[in-house]
Amino acid sequence: MKNFAVIGVGRMGMRHALNLAKGRVAGARLACVCDVSESARKSAQAKTGVKAYADHKAMAGAEKLDAVVIATPHYSHVEIAEFFLEKGVAVLTEKPVSVSVEYAERLNEAAKRSKALFGIMYNQRTNRVYAHVRELVKSGALGTIRRANVTVTDWYRSQFYYDMGGWRASWSGEGGGTLINQCVHQLDVMQWILGMPERVSAVCRTVNRNIDTENDVCANFYYQDFTAVFTASAHEVPGVNMMEIAGDKGLVRAGKFKADIYILAKDEAQINSLSRRDYGNKEDKKYKKYTVRYGLLRLIRDGIYGQQLNILRDFARCLENGGALLAPGEEGINGLALINAVYCANWTKKEVTLPLDGKAYTAMLKEHAAQEKEKGR
Ligand SMILES: NC(=O)c1ccc[n+]([C@@H]2O[C@H](COP(=O)([O-])OP(=O)(O)OC[C@H]3O[C@@H](n4cnc5c(N)ncnc54)[C@H](O)[C@@H]3O)[C@@H](O)[C@H]2O)c1
Repeated sequence: MKNFAVIGVGRMGMRHALNLAKGRVAGARLACVCDVSESARKSAQAKTGVKAYADHKAMAGAEKLDAVVIATPHYSHVEIAEFFLEKGVAVLTEKPVSVSVEYAERLNEAAKRSKALFGIMYNQRTNRVYAHVRELVKSGALGTIRRANVTVTDWYRSQFYYDMGGWRASWSGEGGGTLINQCVHQLDVMQWILGMPERVSAVCRTVNRNIDTENDVCANFYYQDFTAVFTASAHEVPGVNMMEIAGDKGLVRAGKFKADIYILAKDEAQINSLSRRDYGNKEDKKYKKYTVRYGLLRLIRDGIYGQQLNILRDFARCLENGGALLAPGEEGINGLALINAVYCANWTKKEVTLPLDGKAYTAMLKEHAAQEKEKGR
């Protein structure tokens, strides 16, 4: 049985702490928690029965820990993760891994030196709909990808939400808005399925909210053979969550809970070469269609305990038995690089080539954080 601690027991950390404390993660037990806020500590202690520390370094000195789960605001992830990785303690960090690729690169170096297990809470990778789409793309079943459209406008957030947490939707507290907090999941899934693009252009806006960061994004991710058009917002009702990927052997239309898949009998090059009609021969355009679903039982279980429990279990399993993580921490940098590139493209009004210059990005981010402070936010 491995000893886990949860650092940051606010909204999300408390969920992780309860999942561990209630024995829902095989091979893991909640040994203690840590939070800088006294009220959070008291609440966590009352709900889980374990000791609560105010400082993660003091906790490390007093407890024999095998793993920590970091669920603090974004800016603190790297420093806390580095501290524990250097001690050989396994780290599962919440997303995003950091606010700048510069810091994420530093953390990846620390992880390499440490050899302790390092994971990230990219829980949407546990959605079997996305896993299936990934398999289709990676296996070549869709052929060469020619188009992708990712629309994520179902993360509605009210002004009340933004006013609740001091660190939210600010450059200094969160390192961005909708993109870094909510859409990091979809950007990770997109790159998990399609890989990383070569270049990025983007426009970000703030619509109907009193915040300094964006809640509306339109970005183009340019790959060698195609462009992925990414649209995200947190002000649209009812909102859409849809990924469409078209290749020359088929089409995927994937929502959060199901994907419709169309696999062509002949690929587009064959259809084109056989065609003796201007719109193509109808009989050559045949396809097989099937549907993949999230699964009702999984949906109910994830609805009750959170999809994050799947990542906790995967992490605990690898800690106990070895094997590859579904969401290795080192891959956290990819989604973050896309986010940094979108912000950079929006600020400079220029296309950004990946990999991004992390140091230059950090300097730009600090400038925006300073401007925000000048405005008294
Ligand atoms: N995986 C998901 O689906 C998901 C969902 C929501 C939030 N999150 C992530 O979880 C993290 C926390 O978000 P939240 O909504 O729970 O925030 P929150 O503000 O509710 O909780 C953060 C907690 O961390 C504590 N804290 C701050 N600095 C600390 C430090 N140095 N040491 C110890 N405790 C510290 C705060 O006092 C607070 O209790 C963020 O990274 C967020 O993006 C992930």
